[in-house]
Amino acid sequence: MKGLKIASTGRALPARVVTNDDMSRLVETSDEWIASRTGIRARHFCERETQTDLAGLAAQRALERGKVDPRGLCACIVATVTPDTSAPTSACLLQQRLGLPEDIPCFDMNVGCTGFIYALQVARGLLLQSERPYALIVGAEALSRITDFTDRGTCVLFGDGAGAAVVTLAEGGPYACTLGARGDAEAIFIAGPGPQPPCIRMDGQKVFRFAVEAVPHCVHVLLEETGLALEDIDWFVPHQANKRIIDHVAKKLKAPNEKFYQNMMRYGNTSAASIPIALDEMAEQGLLRRGQKVLCVGFGAGLTWGGVLLEW
Ligand code: UT7
Repeated sequence: MKGLKIASTGRALPARVVTNDDMSRLVETSDEWIASRTGIRARHFCERETQTDLAGLAAQRALERGKVDPRGLCACIVATVTPDTSAPTSACLLQQRLGLPEDIPCFDMNVGCTGFIYALQVARGLLLQSERPYALIVGAEALSRITDFTDRGTCVLFGDGAGAAVVTLAEGGPYACTLGARGDAEAIFIAGPGPQPPCIRMDGQKVFRFAVEAVPHCVHVLLEETGLALEDIDWFVPHQANKRIIDHVAKKLKAPNEKFYQNMMRYGNTSAASIPIALDEMAEQGLLRRGQKVLCVGFGAGLTWGGVLLEW
């Protein structure tokens, strides 16, 4: 079975950094509350940048870093809940901006925070049917545009950013993917397109309970499918929603906490962008080396969940 390999990555964050103290000037909150409940210390918010700017920059960096000629792409997929426009899609705007080939599918996927994982598996399907060697996947969000800055329960959690990956089929090495969904409009709800202004509502405790079940579930499924043991995994790269969720999951799995990459302290929850941003940081820091086994796992709006186990 052909697996998937991440050939290169890129990321882009808006210039403006907003600290917890900055947030405490908007709503009744504190650095102490936000950091102790979530691990978040700062996030980036768009000022002049658009979601398309972030997606474009992250994608361009991934293509350049991998020295990938866009003519080798068989698809461009953007995972997002905050495209600048419903049409053209974020992926079509990217196609135009980066001059990607015109004879390939370019489309968005709305799978909340699980979007990047779903996109990886869809890209694999498209690669299997194509003569071309690469697919471009981007997770890009401008969540500050749909955040209710009077709701302290949600506005301190989210951040803007984009991460991109160029992926290709892998001949050897383990590969497995698991995806799931359970329709639920109470846990996380984002209005629009429609008469209501888009705005995130969330039952935080419900999502927390869901996440600490969904993540270990994905890990177990992927290990079973590949015949690997927990100790064989070099890195777990979970969606960066809350440090307490990740710590809880590591403990539940009896896996060393140091193997779970965390960067929510710098970026907050960037939804579909969080996993590719983490992968790009890890690659840049030399934490990811070829041959290592990496397990990425996402969960979020829908509700949706998904995990992928691949060799770096
Ligand atoms: O990517 C999508 C996935 N989303 C998630 O993974 C979110 C998962 N859930 C969570 O991360 C947590 O549930 C939150 C961080 C959202 C909330 O933490 P919590 O420990 O579940 O807090 P809570 O909602 O139970 O609220 C506890 C208290 C409440 O006050 P009372 O009723 O006890 O007086 C809230 O009003 O904390 C209050 N509170 C705040 N206080 C200061 C809620 N937000 C804030 C705030 N600052 N920002």
